[in-house]
Amino acid sequence: MRSHFCGRVDETQIGQSVTLCGWADVARNLGGVCFIDLRDHEGIVQIVVEPDQGAVFEQAAQVGYEDCLRITGTVRARHAANDKLRSGKVEVVAQQIEVLNKAETLPFYLHETPGEETRLIYRYLDLRRPEMQRMMRTRIRLVQALRSYLDARGFQDIETPILTKATPEGARDFLVPARMHEGEFYALPQSPQLFKQILMVAGFDRYYQIARCFRDEALRADRQLEFTQLDMEFAWVDEAIVQDTTEAMIRQVFKDVMDVDLIAPFPRLSWAEAMRRFGSDKPDLRIALELVDVADWVRDCQFKVFTDAANDPDGRVAALRIPGGATLSRKQIDEYAAHAAKFGAKGLAYVKLGEDGAINSPISKFFDETVFAELLADVGAIEGDIVFFGAGSFGKVCDFMGALRLKAGKDFELVEAGWKPLWVTDFPMFEWDEEAGRYVALHHPFTAPAVDSIDDLKANARTAVSRGYDMVLNGNEIGGGSIRIHRSDMQSAVFELLGIGAEEAKEKFGFLLDALRFGAPPHGGIAFGIDRIAALMAGTDSIRDVIAFPKTTTAQCLMTGAPSPIPDAQLAEVHVQVRAKSQ
Ligand code: AMO
Ligand code: AMP
Repeated sequence: MRSHFCGRVDETQIGQSVTLCGWADVARNLGGVCFIDLRDHEGIVQIVVEPDQGAVFEQAAQVGYEDCLRITGTVRARHAANDKLRSGKVEVVAQQIEVLNKAETLPFYLHETPGEETRLIYRYLDLRRPEMQRMMRTRIRLVQALRSYLDARGFQDIETPILTKATPEGARDFLVPARMHEGEFYALPQSPQLFKQILMVAGFDRYYQIARCFRDEALRADRQLEFTQLDMEFAWVDEAIVQDTTEAMIRQVFKDVMDVDLIAPFPRLSWAEAMRRFGSDKPDLRIALELVDVADWVRDCQFKVFTDAANDPDGRVAALRIPGGATLSRKQIDEYAAHAAKFGAKGLAYVKLGEDGAINSPISKFFDETVFAELLADVGAIEGDIVFFGAGSFGKVCDFMGALRLKAGKDFELVEAGWKPLWVTDFPMFEWDEEAGRYVALHHPFTAPAVDSIDDLKANARTAVSRGYDMVLNGNEIGGGSIRIHRSDMQSAVFELLGIGAEEAKEKFGFLLDALRFGAPPHGGIAFGIDRIAALMAGTDSIRDVIAFPKTTTAQCLMTGAPSPIPDAQLAEVHVQVRAKSQ
């Protein structure tokens, strides 16, 4: 149909005849000359038709926005070059215009960004927009770079099943009824976790897969129901090998795709230190603000909220100093308090240190003046600053003070440009789930504890540290993994601590426990969130911008209309009956 791509026509073709196909990006009639910007996936070239061209000119004058055209013409040098276009030094004088398909009036103009709903209904048009083409291609280049890096290093790409048994990654499963087994269901994988471990037992040593994962969980800007991992597993390794190898890979793909040199090596922070200094297990190190523990200063003050938290072993009292923050108005402080409340804060105490040395604080009255001054000095507060205080349980205070740190960082323009990767390590093995009255795994139940003995683990479950690690970039968890449990007795002990009895463990994970008994090598791995890395590289806040056909935050595909009801007959075939809808 065509001899060249529009965006690739250049001076080397001057004088030649070319045939091009594309969309009429813009068609305009200027002083009797018709110009059409013809666009294909390689870019745009200018088409010119002059009035003395008779029928072709008539046709050009009729061309509408986004019509599909096939144009044959001669390449010539352009009078005024357009430096923005690769083809900007030339233009094509059309001799023949064929309208392959006329476009009706589009619901939006492709150089504008319409509302999210319109974009998702007409995703094919949204994806035609230059901005979306750019972002999707960033993702494509990322995946290409990852594959070539891994293929060159002997990693083996192995597919694992989509119709499978539930793998617990902490989310709800998507279920698929089994027609041939009445009343039974497959689960879609939350990740290939167990299969990749079994591949290590099977002797494939270095595995990777660009794997689709399915998790029925609440959607956010960085979460989709189905998303893509670069899933990796290594046998005969400890955490240093996994971390060094994958860190080098991430560094290389940033170089390849973005021409960015990431720091080497990535800094490593223990989970405890990350929580203490940044109130987050995925700290954004571009923001220089840090939390400071002040329990020692407030233990004996008159404010019960503070003394309770300071004297509780699971409590925390933390301060966040914002340089120059004394300019915040009462209303703005209330906005900060409301933001903290979203993350569980019951209140937000503060101290404003005026330029004139005046102190404005709802809590100074609870303190001995000298102690208060010492506290402020310890936090490093000087005139012109505001200091926020959070008190409560350790987890809550980290959550809301960490959220405040991010908000203050943005509001006060303290977010440094560039890339700040790091590893977060030494996670707690378990978290106590108040509601369920039992431990839950912080990573997943196959993560090895940092102790060798089962007795040791059982005796210190509450404080046990795991061999898990996350890779964090600019405040986003872009990857997570661990050294795994490779012995079945330890795996059974961890199941037991998680409240999974022997019977249930056998029924759900018997195949894994069996596999671990037949000479499973020590192994470990990691999975990276491709969507998240692509979004960061593309410079967008939402992973929806780097997924061709994403779901809305209400878990729907607006283009196809999924999910949708299924006729009774089809449901009957798979032995499913839908209950009356709850009102
Ligand atoms: P984890 O659950 O931490 O680990 O997932 C690994 C990475 O996948 C990305 N991710 C998501 N991206 C988009 N939408 C989601 N809903 C979503 N959930 C997770 C994140 C995350 O860091 N099997 C383990 C890995 C292992 O232990 O090797 C796992 O899946 O970037
Ligand atoms: P009150 O005397 O209850 O009005 O509280 C005094 C100040 O402490 C107010 O600014 C409250 O917002 C703040 N405050 C209350 N609870 C907490 C808390 N858990 N952490 C931090 N500040 C709090």
